[in-house]
Amino acid sequence: MRKAFIAGNWKMNMTAASGAALIKELAPLVADASCDVALCVPAILIPAMTEAAKGTNIKIGAENIHWAASGAYTGEISAEMLKEYGVEYAIIGHSERRQYFGETDETVNKRTLTALANGITPIVCVGELLEEREAGVTEKVLDKQLEIGLKDVEDVSKIVIAYEPVWAIGTGKTATDEQAQETIAYIRKKLGELFCPKCAEKVVIQYGGSMNAKNCKGLMAQPDIDGGLIGGASLKLDFATIVNYDK
Ligand code: 13P
Repeated sequence: MRKAFIAGNWKMNMTAASGAALIKELAPLVADASCDVALCVPAILIPAMTEAAKGTNIKIGAENIHWAASGAYTGEISAEMLKEYGVEYAIIGHSERRQYFGETDETVNKRTLTALANGITPIVCVGELLEEREAGVTEKVLDKQLEIGLKDVEDVSKIVIAYEPVWAIGTGKTATDEQAQETIAYIRKKLGELFCPKCAEKVVIQYGGSMNAKNCKGLMAQPDIDGGLIGGASLKLDFATIVNYDK
């Protein structure tokens, strides 16, 4: 049985003060969650948010991780730096990283392998652009992202996949329950081919893209959808409603 996992992605939002205040308000509201709960926050906020979340069931994650142990990589964050604060999750290959910062399936792969080697769970983001969906090549796009992004991964059950159709991110245009289920079931089938069907059954696959307090129940009711990666709605108390989708 896969345990549901709801994670927030704060992107480039919040400050140490507003973030800590939000976590203090969220903590009692999500304390009885049946799912795993995490907030992935900007690197500079990790120490303060770790402190704010101490003693709660909210884990603090990173929004990226570099593949090298250390060195001349201005602006990047290493696994060792994240581990110093007990970080357990790192988002990898978010479409905004791919779109604005030149992230490729190859760099996604390097980051993923490094996270795994350091005991940090990678939340590997995949998803198609609107024109790719309209051209009917969604499965092809996902195939490539998974084949290259997860190359040489030994135990795929240690990875979380976030299926985020790019056209649904920050647009208020959520994929329908059926669209999300169908595509995530395809991702699971593909993982079965790349690894083994039994291994694929163990992989937690989240949906991301305008998931909110209203549509979370329908999405979470789908058999292959195991959680959500929440952008905008993780910046407010709506995040607690999503975490409590089953209450
Ligand atoms: P929104 O929930 O704001 O659409 O963002 C989704 C996302 O990109 C999470 O990583």
